[in-house]
Amino acid sequence: VSAPGTAIPTLDSPHIARLHRALLRWYRTHGRTLPWRGNHDPYQILVSEFMLQQTQVARVIEAFRAWCVRFPTVHALARARRREVLLAWRGLGYNRRALHLHEAARAIVDLHAGELPRDIPALQSLPGIGPYTARAVACFGMGMRTAVVDVNVERILVRIAGLERKLPVRELQRVADEVLPRRAWYDWNQALMDLGAMVCTAAAPRCDSCPLRRLCASAGMHALPAARPRHARVLREPPRRFYRGRVIALLRDAPGHRMSLAELGLALKVDYHTDDLPWLHDIVVSLMRDGLLRPEALLTEAKDATMRSDPHHVHLELVE
Ligand code: ADE
Repeated sequence: VSAPGTAIPTLDSPHIARLHRALLRWYRTHGRTLPWRGNHDPYQILVSEFMLQQTQVARVIEAFRAWCVRFPTVHALARARRREVLLAWRGLGYNRRALHLHEAARAIVDLHAGELPRDIPALQSLPGIGPYTARAVACFGMGMRTAVVDVNVERILVRIAGLERKLPVRELQRVADEVLPRRAWYDWNQALMDLGAMVCTAAAPRCDSCPLRRLCASAGMHALPAARPRHARVLREPPRRFYRGRVIALLRDAPGHRMSLAELGLALKVDYHTDDLPWLHDIVVSLMRDGLLRPEALLTEAKDATMRSDPHHVHLELVE
């Protein structure tokens, strides 16, 4: 039976009000100081959220500051060449994000006269922007009142409300919007992220030091899982995305941002063998398809190289 005033069976309005007071009080003393907090430039918030999608906060901090100096406005980014954008993405990994951000900047300039649209569906229709990033930009960059739900926030809400299972995305957004404070929504959204990073972590929640422990249906219910044996992960071959990232990182630092396939192979694997060529070729082709490498270089040189009958002479270059 739903408690009056809310759509969440396990949380009534007074309970939600207590959650607000407890979390916002904790946030005032424990909240992290981060360079994008209190920054209300929608473009810069978009940059921070792209960076934070798959990279840890500690790595993002310096990269974000440097980016805002290099490309301070959406116009500056839209004007840049793809190569410059990839070079500035150094250290962040998942390089396709850099190109998506660049495309988003160009779309904002071309379709919206350089102003980010103040409208969640319009934001979501931009390249690389999903429901999470659209709402993060709307709330953090534009002050709009909307819940910002990433996997960490989802975990916290599920735990607090004692929900048995993951909710479908729409329902989850509804629950999150339901518990959003009427006034301090910006701080609430930011505070949930800090709680998820520092206290209500996925594997080892610190319920003893949680400001919400008396208000949470799952407090103290998460016994720590047994530590995994240390050797389990070490011997496995790194995933393909690891090598994709290495290729871009190597070309970033290479003279002229250019290397031959032979040089690349040896730089990727100490025991690189010509039999590894199909493997290397697949990686390179996937990076070309994603627009990270210059395709012309391969196509024009491939002919000469075939004449020399060793594709290892083909040179690869970062996209221009
Ligand atoms: N992760 C994604 N967005 C964040 C933010 N604004 N603060 C901290 N961590 C985040």
